[in-house]
Amino acid sequence: MAKYIVQKSGPLVGTVEISGAKNAVLPIMAASLLTDEECEILEVPALRDVDAMCKLLHSIGSKVNEDFDNNRIHIKKGNILFNEAPYELVKRMRASILTMGPLLARTGRARIALPGGCAIGARPIDLHLKGFQALGADIEQGHGYVEAKAKKLTGGSVYLDFPSVGATENIMMAAALAEGHTIIENAAEEPEIVDLANFMNKMGAKVKGAGTDTIRIEGVKELRGTKHSVIPDRIETGTFMVAAAITRGDIILKNVVPDHVRPVVAKLIECGVSVEEIEEGIRVRADLKPLVSTDIKTMPYPGFPTDMQPQFMALLTTVKGPSLVVETVFENRYMHVGELNRMGADIKIEGRTAIIQGERKLQGAQVICTDLRAGAAMVLAGLMAEGITEISEIYHLERGYASFAEKFHLLGANIKKVQD
Ligand code: UD1
Repeated sequence: MAKYIVQKSGPLVGTVEISGAKNAVLPIMAASLLTDEECEILEVPALRDVDAMCKLLHSIGSKVNEDFDNNRIHIKKGNILFNEAPYELVKRMRASILTMGPLLARTGRARIALPGGCAIGARPIDLHLKGFQALGADIEQGHGYVEAKAKKLTGGSVYLDFPSVGATENIMMAAALAEGHTIIENAAEEPEIVDLANFMNKMGAKVKGAGTDTIRIEGVKELRGTKHSVIPDRIETGTFMVAAAITRGDIILKNVVPDHVRPVVAKLIECGVSVEEIEEGIRVRADLKPLVSTDIKTMPYPGFPTDMQPQFMALLTTVKGPSLVVETVFENRYMHVGELNRMGADIKIEGRTAIIQGERKLQGAQVICTDLRAGAAMVLAGLMAEGITEISEIYHLERGYASFAEKFHLLGANIKKVQD
């Protein structure tokens, strides 16, 4: 098994190019099932999750042509669509559930292995299913699988009890080919929802209101193939902004949408980091004044993203003063706290709140990636820690960050990938 060896590095300096967004490309790939024609997707990040989605689409019956060297994939439906996603593929990647809406719309049936819980929470799919039911589907569960069936999907009205990203996307995709009008209230507003809607509208769908809490979809009879460039990854952007902050460095980030990272920028500025929009993208400087603490509460977009909570927590252990972090999106997203404490951080958990003492002198240790973003937090902490940090189970990182170690290395980080 591969691991990262990270050593204390000076301030990171230089330019980093951000890749296409994992959380945008996965639903867009699933949406390709909505048409018989070819879809060409550009700015595709070379990630394990993208590869897993390629394999899933292939097993369902699509012809997938991956050209990772050029960050491009072509997807075209084969002769038959199999409407099942087996456990072997779903357990590798939770986003497999996003094939359920399009398969239901195309074939009238979708049978998917239940994804189950994961390190950060139970992650039920009740809201996805509530949406399919509102469109007229019958739901059955048994033997670890969930099946949705409908002779014909008809438009309906869905109120989401929580603005779930995946449920919003799945319902949008199912509704695109349903007969009549669908309305999703308390919908997720994430930029990735807007990117999916833009892709679907280029295919001929009629989706309005994406990016607000009310999305309206007018069903159409069929959709066509299209070509689409995926938006830049706002979580990768945020991770490199925090890398500049934690190492007190000076980094320029290219291929970014500043609007998508407003909450992270706001918190960095509260810590005393300088964030400037420049022609090439965003310049983040943390070498101008001492950094201070701030409090964070994770929320659905446009609130502070839960996917940036572990990385920001690593930063907060190094600044002056105590901070509070409240995680409201996932019930168990503090797996990294134990690992950070093993490196000398002083973080206490009380319910959903973490209390972080600042100005800790971190020390290198053997730690594990407990999940994707927790792994990024370990690398960031390792850059500031005295001595050597050995990070194992890095396959989590490779699920969601393209060329992670290489990009850090180019900024002057002392990071090496080695085989055990
Ligand atoms: C997506 C992102 C993930 C991010 C998360 C929250 C993708 C591929 N993944 O995950 O990186 O951390 O949004 O921003 O885009 N919930 C229910 N019932 C449901 C669905 C969700 O109770 O049917 C709960 C979940 O357990 C969780 C919360 O809602 O506590 C948010 O989940 P959701 O927005 O659905 O996240 P994902 O789409 O799984």
